[in-house]
Amino acid sequence: SAHKAISNPKQAQLADFTVDYTKDRGIATHFGVLQSDTETALKAGIRGPTLIEDTHAREKITHFDHERIPERVVHARGTGAHGYFKLHTPIPEVTYAPILNDTTLTTPTFVRFSTVQGFRGSADTVRDVRGFATRFYTQQGNWDIVANNNPVFFIQEAIKFPDVIHAVKPDQAKEIPQAQSAHDNFWDFIGRTPESLHHVMWHMSDRNIPRSYRMMQGFGVHSFVCVNAKGQRSFVKFHWKPKLGIHSLVWDEALKIAGQDPDFHRRDLYDAIEAGSYPEYEFGVQVVPEEKEHDFDFDLLDSTKIIPEELVPVRYIGSMVLNKCPDDFFAETEQIAFCTQHMVPGIEHSNDPLLHLRSFSYQDTQLTRLGGPNWNLLPINRPVCPVFNTHRDGYMQTQINKGPNYWPNRFGTPHPVAGKDGGQVLSPQPLPGGVKERVRGPKFSEHYSQATLFWNSMSDVEKEHIVGAFSFELGRCDDKGVIELMLEQINFIDNKLACLVAQSLHLQPPKEVHPNHGKATKFLSQINPVNSNNAFTAVGRRMALFVHDGF
Ligand code: HEM
Repeated sequence: SAHKAISNPKQAQLADFTVDYTKDRGIATHFGVLQSDTETALKAGIRGPTLIEDTHAREKITHFDHERIPERVVHARGTGAHGYFKLHTPIPEVTYAPILNDTTLTTPTFVRFSTVQGFRGSADTVRDVRGFATRFYTQQGNWDIVANNNPVFFIQEAIKFPDVIHAVKPDQAKEIPQAQSAHDNFWDFIGRTPESLHHVMWHMSDRNIPRSYRMMQGFGVHSFVCVNAKGQRSFVKFHWKPKLGIHSLVWDEALKIAGQDPDFHRRDLYDAIEAGSYPEYEFGVQVVPEEKEHDFDFDLLDSTKIIPEELVPVRYIGSMVLNKCPDDFFAETEQIAFCTQHMVPGIEHSNDPLLHLRSFSYQDTQLTRLGGPNWNLLPINRPVCPVFNTHRDGYMQTQINKGPNYWPNRFGTPHPVAGKDGGQVLSPQPLPGGVKERVRGPKFSEHYSQATLFWNSMSDVEKEHIVGAFSFELGRCDDKGVIELMLEQINFIDNKLACLVAQSLHLQPPKEVHPNHGKATKFLSQINPVNSNNAFTAVGRRMALFVHDGF
């Protein structure tokens, strides 16, 4: 109840848009005319044809006919909750953004958890990456951290996103997610895309069958840029850590639950919040000042890499509580439109090649998904601060915009705001210059060392589960060439892992090759996760396994 009592400007704003049907005046048409019968249509005589003159019947059917909108192209299956964020440790040396400086603020949030691959009606407990998208309704505008529960991503470049998703989704001929051809396609793509192997290790681990959204980490994945009041820039990775600890299902449980209760995670979140057992997450940052950008064996701009905590510890600076379920799934959870480009002054894009086209993609898809350019006016998407600009018109405009619609003008409003008064001024960054071409940085070519680090950091039982997952998934492939390709790639991560997977598939165990093509020796000798709890504390060393009594 202490949590409920916290005043929340977003809730106050949503209340203005909420229609309470327990206080109705009776059923009316959309245009306010009360209706005496909503069960019988107007007919030309008893047993005669229905008349289109019946405005109410036509309106009722027409509205129903248009209830569905396209599901998200990825992360279609999800569930959301409202909450709030509080900072306890300001970081003025990193950013001037008030949300990360002012400990007196309570910032409203909305979180949407999701799976990536399945349809809107698919099961919750599948082996998949989970989305952990958070919107902060700050006084400087909306800030979205559109995170996943894996700290790394499949691919280094956004231009490959349609390919990885086509390979992950059901194959186009059958649209059967579990078809062998779908497994062939996925592993075919992975086998030919070694940069995805680190991500795939997380994918095949217990991490990707979480026990509950309340027991799952979130990672902003990219290195973002934060800027302090002196204009100094740092690379920052954002982390969420659940107060309940990180827990997973075992595969057998996940399979059974998917059949018995496909809404397992959704129900778990609602039940916990309704029972007053509010999920809570610590918020952490890993900070690398810009001058240290090149101090690592990997590139900070490469989203297939973590920054091991041994090199840069995570500093926990605040926490988020989720304390309210949405009143209307469609209006809130379905219509929220997250985007990585929603950043507030003091937080900016880095040059991560996964990030810029990603920012473009979200807004672009929302133009279709939410039917035009005015989705910012939907209640869940409205910032809590006032918004004035010169954008006008478009489908479903719901504001009456009175006053000047261009700038500069003779009226002096709406006007740009100087940086010292809160206007967004992007920090200047010198560019290296060079040649315009399709290239990637030199450090983007080493793909195996962090996958090996992840494998080495696992306990025996976790290793067993990874072997089991690879064997199960590759065992569903039809194409022997694809399996061989994958075994070759897994062998570059670890020979023992490759041999165990080969054995369980009744295939020839591969011969030991120089680990990681010999490229990663220096990195791996810097960090020894077997002897250190640190390397993966935030990013994955240990996980407790959940064993459900019922199974
Ligand atoms: C949706 C995470 C990369 C395109 C989402 C969602 C999450 C997410 C959590 C669900 C948002 C929601 O709940 O509404 C990530 C992460 C990425 C990544 C962590 C890598 C670091 C990309 C890339 C692209 C992309 C590279 C495209 C180039 C999309 C699209 C949606 C989506 C189009 C659907 C948005 C909507 O319909 O509202 N992503 N994503 N994502 N993502 Fe990503």
